[in-house]
Amino acid sequence: MLNKKIILITGGGNGLGLGMVDVFVSLGAFVIAVDIDEKAAAKLQKYNRLKQSVDFVRVDISSSSEVLQLKNYIVDKYHYIDGLVNNAAKMHSAGFFDSTLEEFDSVINLNLKSVFYMSQAFSKLMSENRKGAIVNVSSTHTKATLPGHEIYAACKAGIAGLTRSMALSLGKHGVRVNTLSPGLIETDKIVKHINSTPGLTKAYSQMSPTNQNNSVADVANVAAFLLSDNARAINGADIVVDQGESVQAYNIEQFGICVRENARCE
Ligand SMILES: NC(=O)c1ccc[n+]([C@@H]2O[C@H](COP(=O)([O-])OP(=O)(O)OC[C@H]3O[C@@H](n4cnc5c(N)ncnc54)[C@H](O)[C@@H]3O)[C@@H](O)[C@H]2O)c1
Repeated sequence: MLNKKIILITGGGNGLGLGMVDVFVSLGAFVIAVDIDEKAAAKLQKYNRLKQSVDFVRVDISSSSEVLQLKNYIVDKYHYIDGLVNNAAKMHSAGFFDSTLEEFDSVINLNLKSVFYMSQAFSKLMSENRKGAIVNVSSTHTKATLPGHEIYAACKAGIAGLTRSMALSLGKHGVRVNTLSPGLIETDKIVKHINSTPGLTKAYSQMSPTNQNNSVADVANVAAFLLSDNARAINGADIVVDQGESVQAYNIEQFGICVRENARCE
């Protein structure tokens, strides 16, 4: 599906980003994985033992000057890219009254501003070939969120708006832009948290109508589709990947009783 495509991904060293590297390489892509975490380079070396398919570049994407250096590096070494995944972000949750403006700036710089200038830098490159795709990783927190997640939810909702407008600006240059909004993903970090918190395994397993959480590969496969030519008609969309969790008003099974008059309860 991604044969010989050059895909640039931010936050490719851990979690969902690392899972995407795995899936994209298995589908024939060459991946440029960008991450601030230098230790991640070691994890990606296995791909190059098999064949030269991943280039790790240490970049802090919240710095616009480092993004410019990355662009120069890619232009010199590869000349073009076929796809960009804006995936790197940090979670932020704190009491609403405790959150500071410094935190707001720091989270928005990484989670939203970087999506803007990464997209601006690399869509220019893709538009020179009149072909390319951008996938912006958002979250179901754009629609249904939690107390204390104001800054994170604002960034993720910002991504959805940014994506729609970019889809309109870039469509005529041959570049498609879509949002990918996952629900909970069982990354190593999340699994560790679930396993160390009593009761969380049961609670999370009951959140969705499928009684399952997303695996990293579940979400990475959808990103691969959006980057591929099979998705050539999809532009400006927000693809929700959450096992159906966000369309459910509440989980009836958690009540254990029939909550609506005349409803058929099984
Ligand atoms: N895990 C979930 O349940 C979940 C659910 C919905 C959406 N998401 C979204 O998926 C994406 C990936 O999340 P994850 O759970 O894999 O996160 P993660 O924390 O496991 O990985 C994020 C990666 O981004 C890198 N990174 C952080 N700051 C950076 C910077 N300044 N420059 C470059 N790289 C940087 C980190 O080093 C890390 O490798 C995020 O956009 C997140 O909001 C995650």
